[in-house]
Amino acid sequence: MKYLCLNGPNLHRLGKREPEIYGHETLADVTKDLQTLAAAFDAEIDVKQSNHEGQLIDWIYEAEDGDIAGIIFNPGAYTHTSVALRDCIAGVEVPVVEVHISNVHKREAFRHHSYLAPVCIGQITGLGTFGYQAALRMFLQSN
Ligand code: DQA
Repeated sequence: MKYLCLNGPNLHRLGKREPEIYGHETLADVTKDLQTLAAAFDAEIDVKQSNHEGQLIDWIYEAEDGDIAGIIFNPGAYTHTSVALRDCIAGVEVPVVEVHISNVHKREAFRHHSYLAPVCIGQITGLGTFGYQAALRMFLQSN
């Protein structure tokens, strides 16, 4: 099985960006942990990041048209703004789990609403970077 982990704007700065909120792990660390976990189940995972909404949308359609069994998606701030990403996810069959490193519900009011959560199979928020692994475990155990 193949999985995809997508990361939205500013997440390439993980480890440097507001470490008191997002921790010290980098996206390379997250990638390594996900790939180790996937390999233990004879699966594969590709981790991608973009600061551009349209690029994220294109990757979701590529996943839908390819052989990707599930997407782990940290949409960053697009969570709270993007009708375009919501429409994209609503129109594909590939299951998407929304992941946030921080607990968005404990933070500013504008982070409490997700346009994407209603079209995802679930949302994981506030578990730090472990949230990515929790999402992958769910896919690995259900496939
Ligand atoms: C985030 C939470 C978002 O509100 C924020 O804009 C991010 C990161 C998280 O992982 O906690 O960029 O998605």
